[in-house]
Amino acid sequence: MSSLSPIQIKKTADGSNTLYDPALDETYHSLNGALSESYHVYIKNGLLKQLPVAGNAINVLEIGFGTAMNALLSLEYLPKDVTCNYYSLEPYPLDTSLIQAYYQGFSEQPPNLSLLDKMLASVNVWQNIQPNFQMMVSDSKLQDLEDELVPDTVKPFDLVFYDAFAPSRQPEMWSLSSLEKVSRLMKAGALLTTYCAQGQFKRNLKELGFALEHPQGANGKREMTLAFKL
Ligand SMILES: C[S@@+](CC[C@H](N)C(=O)[O-])C[C@H]1O[C@@H](n2cnc3c(N)ncnc32)[C@H](O)[C@@H]1O
Repeated sequence: MSSLSPIQIKKTADGSNTLYDPALDETYHSLNGALSESYHVYIKNGLLKQLPVAGNAINVLEIGFGTAMNALLSLEYLPKDVTCNYYSLEPYPLDTSLIQAYYQGFSEQPPNLSLLDKMLASVNVWQNIQPNFQMMVSDSKLQDLEDELVPDTVKPFDLVFYDAFAPSRQPEMWSLSSLEKVSRLMKAGALLTTYCAQGQFKRNLKELGFALEHPQGANGKREMTLAFKL
């Protein structure tokens, strides 16, 4: 995040790339497949699960915008007759040139890559990416997420992509107080999805009253977490 050594592009097992941050000694996605992991956790077990519940408009909160992969995949899988308001937190934005180089190395590129520049164009303003997809990347930290910060057009949220670095690297991102901030902004019936299935994180979600499910994780990983706000 704040490394002096530059962030590196790394090939993953499905032919897509991830990024490696030497300062954290952590990758942005699983080395077993970045694109397949994002699809499995955030689209198949997130967007596609929550669309029938949300109706003709879905409000999405993402924790950690990073490479824009989850936003690009959401665009790809969003039905034409559904509107998506996408709000993503990223206090440590990557260089645009790095993100562009990152996607050039994919064996198969995401179909909406031509919209990437528009997504990266500015922070803290609503962007009309396409008629049914509006988004804002906010430079605030999860720890600073407050109701007043989030525009009325996007809240309460139907769906949360909880894509922070692992608890071993950034424990504060998975704490009870961070989760409480997110929970307060979610509708009843909203879904939080994440690759993480760490014990303390699951106990924190239970303490906040979420109902948990643990489907199989991406690329053979034993489990991931779905947390439904009751
Ligand atoms: C695992 S990466 C995932 C990024 C992204 N979803 C992707 O597919 O590339 C975690 C992201 O969380 C961001 N992050 C770090 N600290 C944060 C904080 N305090 N609040 C919100 N996001 C943070 C990082 O900069 C990084 O982009």
